[in-house]
Amino acid sequence: MSRNVVITGANRGLGLEFVCQYLEAGWKVFACSRSPETAQELLKLKQEAGEQLETIPLDVTNPAHITNLKYTLMGHDIDLLINNAGIYGERLPYGEVRADEWMKVLEVNTVAPLMVVQELSELLADKSKVILMSSKMGSVEDNSSGGSYIYRSSKAGLNAVGKSLAIDLAEHGISVVVCHPGWVQTDMGGSNASIDTKTSITGLREVIENLDLSRSGQFFNYDGAVIPW
Ligand SMILES: NC(=O)c1ccc[n+]([C@@H]2O[C@H](COP(=O)([O-])OP(=O)(O)OC[C@H]3O[C@@H](n4cnc5c(N)ncnc54)[C@H](OP(=O)(O)O)[C@@H]3O)[C@@H](O)[C@H]2O)c1
Repeated sequence: MSRNVVITGANRGLGLEFVCQYLEAGWKVFACSRSPETAQELLKLKQEAGEQLETIPLDVTNPAHITNLKYTLMGHDIDLLINNAGIYGERLPYGEVRADEWMKVLEVNTVAPLMVVQELSELLADKSKVILMSSKMGSVEDNSSGGSYIYRSSKAGLNAVGKSLAIDLAEHGISVVVCHPGWVQTDMGGSNASIDTKTSITGLREVIENLDLSRSGQFFNYDGAVIPW
């Protein structure tokens, strides 16, 4: 029987590559994006994949969209939920950091993933896996260059969310990990980034495939290495 994966921020970058690779692997893919009707790459994939790919409107900061997602998914067990949607926010140096921009990034990167998991929790079951796309920039130990207050704190907060979720969901047999995709050539990573989306997602899929409760609650690099908090 084919497995079901739900992916947020699926219309471009890493989310889109997850969609492509899971389709190729025969999974049923629920691809969530803010505007599926204008998501050209997803529309193209849909023409070939037919019912194997469902596109669903989801702004992760909109509670009504998250509830709608739950009703759309009713009747399907979620084997894998990938909370991928994220933003960097404005690049504001020390002295110029603004609270309004910070709150916007926290809402998308830190708060929304938990709201999505909470709302979908009745569709998660024994052996389901939840992935939170974080960043090494959220590692406090790895921070040797300072700055990036907004993005770093949003991902450090997400890491704390992931650890608690892993502990709270273990009794239901659900594994949760926080992942770093590498520095990847996407709109966010830029063209000078060190790896392409194919390399990143191929690695992350292997991390996900090998995930079980004994590895839950850890912070993984795309190559399987454990990253310090
Ligand atoms: N690329 C890297 O080097 C790198 C490194 C470390 C971590 N990451 C993390 O990996 C994830 C994916 O990054 P990426 O490089 O693929 O970024 P990207 O190319 O900028 O794509 C970001 C995706 O998130 C979606 N998104 C943003 N805000 C959203 C919202 N409110 N609701 C729903 N979707 C929203 C975007 O949708 P729209 O098209 O509608 O804007 C887009 O699909 C992010 O969480 C990022 O922090 C990336």
